[in-house]
Amino acid sequence: MKTLTILKPDDWHLHLREGLVLKNIIHFTSEYFGRAIVMPNTKNPITSIDKAIAYKKLITEALPKSSNFQPLMTIYLTDETDKEELINGFKNNVIFAAKLYPANATTNSSHGVKKIANLYEVFESMQESGMPLLIHGEVTDSEVDVFDREEVFIDRELQPIIKTFPKLKIVLEHITTSYAVDFVQEKNIGATITPHHLHINRNAMFFGGLNSDFYCLPVAKRENNRLALRKAATSGKECFFLGTDSAPHLRKWKAFCGCAGIFNSPVALESYLTVFEEENALDNFEKFASLNGPNFYNLSPNKEKLKLVSKSNKIVEFIDVIEEKDIVEQIKPFHAGETLNWQVEGIVN
Ligand code: NCD
Ligand code: ZN
Repeated sequence: MKTLTILKPDDWHLHLREGLVLKNIIHFTSEYFGRAIVMPNTKNPITSIDKAIAYKKLITEALPKSSNFQPLMTIYLTDETDKEELINGFKNNVIFAAKLYPANATTNSSHGVKKIANLYEVFESMQESGMPLLIHGEVTDSEVDVFDREEVFIDRELQPIIKTFPKLKIVLEHITTSYAVDFVQEKNIGATITPHHLHINRNAMFFGGLNSDFYCLPVAKRENNRLALRKAATSGKECFFLGTDSAPHLRKWKAFCGCAGIFNSPVALESYLTVFEEENALDNFEKFASLNGPNFYNLSPNKEKLKLVSKSNKIVEFIDVIEEKDIVEQIKPFHAGETLNWQVEGIVN
C-alpha cells in the first residue's frame, strides 16, 4: 500500500457559513488542516472588525473540543470600507487579509465593490502595511460572457492594480484559466487552485440534464484550461497553493436555485491526491498543500504531520446536517458516490 506523510496542510480559501451548517461541517477541515482562510461572504457579510471578531467566536465555539485549528479571518471590502479600521484590524492580528468581491460576482456578493478604482486609497494603505488582498477575479458586466469573465478581469482590473501597487501582496483566488496560470507566474502574485477545477471542465454541468452540482464560480472552463491548472498545481511552483473554495449549499437550495458552490471539504485532500498521482507528481504534493501557502504569507509551516494512504475510498452521496440528533438537511459533497483511491489516515508523530 502506497503511503505519503506530509506536514499538516492549510486551506487558503474556505467557506464555513454560520449556524447549523458551520457546526456540522467545520470538523471536515479542522481535523486535518492546521489553518484556513475563512471567506467573509456570510449572509450578512463580514465588513467590520466587530463582525470579524463575532464570526471568529462562532467558529471557535463550533470547533471540536481540543482542536488547535486556526481560522484566519478576512474582511469583505465594500465601496465604504474604512481604511483606518481595516489596517488596524490587520496590525492587531484580528484580520488576516481583505477580500475583494466585485458586486454580484458570486454567492452573497451583492454588497461587493461597484467600482474598484474607488478602493485605490485602501490598496495603498494595504501595500504599505503588507496586508494581503484576496481577489475574486471576475468582471460582472452582463455583456461579458460568463466563460470570459476571469480573463477580462485580469486585463481590465488586475493589470492596473498591479501596475499601480507593485508591492501589494495579491492572491488571485480559485483560478480557472490557462490565461490566469500564465499571468500569476509572470507577475509573481499568488493563486489558489481548487480540487474541482482540476477534475471537471465545463461539460460537467451540461450532461445528464443541467447539473448544478458542478456549478461554481468562477465557472469551470474548457478542457485545455483544466489541463493547464493541473500542470500548475502539480508543478510545485511557489505561487500556486491549496485553496479548496469548499462552499456548502443545502440540497434544497441547490435544487431550488442551483446556487454556485461545490462542497468539497470532506474529500478535498483525497481529491487533490488523485490528481497529483495521475500527474506523477506526488512528490510535489507537500509543497502545494503545506509549504507554498505559508511561504507566500510569511508564516511557518505546521509542525504536525499527516499520513495519507492509497486505498479504496467510497465517497458518500450526502453529508447529513444534524440538529439535536435529527437529520434536518443534507449537502452533496464533491465526488459523491465515486470511489477515490486515497484516504487520510490521520495525524502522526
Ligand atoms: C462561493 C460560495 O458559495 O460562497 N461559491 C462558489 O461558487 N465558489 C463563493 C465564491 O467563492 O465565489
Ligand atoms: Zn470562495
